[in-house]
Amino acid sequence: MSFNALKEKGIPLEKQIRTWHDIVRRPYNRTDVDCYTRTRQIFMNGIEIEAWNFKHHFARITDDIELKKLLARIRRIEDMQQTTVNWLIPANQSVLDTTLGYEQVAVDLTSWLAQNEPDDYVKETFNFGLLEDFDHLYRYSQWAYLHEGTNPDDIVQGQTDVVIGRPTQNHHNDNAVRLRKSYNKETAAPQTKVNILTLVSAEQQTHNFYAEHGMMYGNDDIRRTYAEICDVEEEHVSMYESLIDPTETMFEKLVIHEFTEVCNYYNCYKDEVDDRIKQVWEECLAMEIEHLQLAGDLLKKYEKRDPEEIIGTDIILPCHFESQKEYVTDILMNEVDKRLDSNMGYTTIDKLPEDWESYDVQEKTGAAGAPTEQAVQQAKSSIKRDIVCADKKLVKKQPMLLEKGLERKAQAPNTVSVADYERMTEIEVYDFEEEI
Ligand SMILES: [Fe+2]
Ligand SMILES: [Fe+2]
Ligand SMILES: [Fe+2]
Ligand SMILES: [Fe+2]
Repeated sequence: MSFNALKEKGIPLEKQIRTWHDIVRRPYNRTDVDCYTRTRQIFMNGIEIEAWNFKHHFARITDDIELKKLLARIRRIEDMQQTTVNWLIPANQSVLDTTLGYEQVAVDLTSWLAQNEPDDYVKETFNFGLLEDFDHLYRYSQWAYLHEGTNPDDIVQGQTDVVIGRPTQNHHNDNAVRLRKSYNKETAAPQTKVNILTLVSAEQQTHNFYAEHGMMYGNDDIRRTYAEICDVEEEHVSMYESLIDPTETMFEKLVIHEFTEVCNYYNCYKDEVDDRIKQVWEECLAMEIEHLQLAGDLLKKYEKRDPEEIIGTDIILPCHFESQKEYVTDILMNEVDKRLDSNMGYTTIDKLPEDWESYDVQEKTGAAGAPTEQAVQQAKSSIKRDIVCADKKLVKKQPMLLEKGLERKAQAPNTVSVADYERMTEIEVYDFEEEI
């Protein structure tokens, strides 16, 4: 690919301030939107939030007034871009609809990143998190149907499977156990740096969305489900951010942030099927090229280093969205029983020691029942089976996946059993067109 963002022409910073009419665009249509236009929109909001927030952190640790002024000017643009992107969500797209979109982002984005990740340990970490977000999509799908009568397939549009993954009640770890080994900034590929920051941004925004929207439902089980999954997203942020080399300087980090924005907007622009939204990606890309070049100038001025040393000369595609069913099924079949060990590595359920740190967290948080199990219990008592969207062969594997993927110890008292899944999967998949 020949797109060197350090050499392309962007929009000068002083021309990046737009009218309120340009900042707040007409939202997409909830029923016609392509599911991957929705995932791009949900995801790029997370990229902008991180770009904005990082510049605040940078400004708080420097007394260089010229640097502070430049950061403040760029930061405002990030904030305006965030408004443009996030407010493409229509008012009639419910919190649960958007939530299914967030988890579709996580599943299909993480799968793409894992397959394009040159570092094996980072790839293994991506695959580990993948099966957790995959299960979140399944748990939230129960509520989307039970509470709002939504067929989750109307949101995921047949591109992403909805079945059980690694059960959410087993995602609660001692947060210190979540920490991973970091890459070495001298030897890591630019792709690894961009891939990780991309995923950290997505997970962080997913956490923030659940933290700020879970209370919008009156049903206590739904509120608790948001609380439970929000906490897992906090673990995901901790896990993925710990992969980043902590010795990167702030100027270096600024370059990586702007480059990550450039790459993601470039990828969105390349893939977008909606002409109106494609134009948003194109305009933001031109703004980010300018931000990147300004960040590169700062690196040269303050550290006498070239940005090429950090990000190379080629563009990276960190967010191509396409159906990843086959890849996810493969990881699901092979890694549902995988767990974090206490030495920044991985193990399986059968090899966990009795005193594994995470059992304690699981016992405490699940003592009065796991809300994510309650979601399936409710579906079971209401329609005699769970809500799934996948081919029958995969649906039939649910009892086996649970048998293999659920820890014996520290189970919540309301856990849906393997026998329950065997009974549920005997019943035809719920038909959203016809009452049973
Ligand atoms: Fe931005
Ligand atoms: Fe998730
Ligand atoms: Fe996540
Ligand atoms: Fe930027």
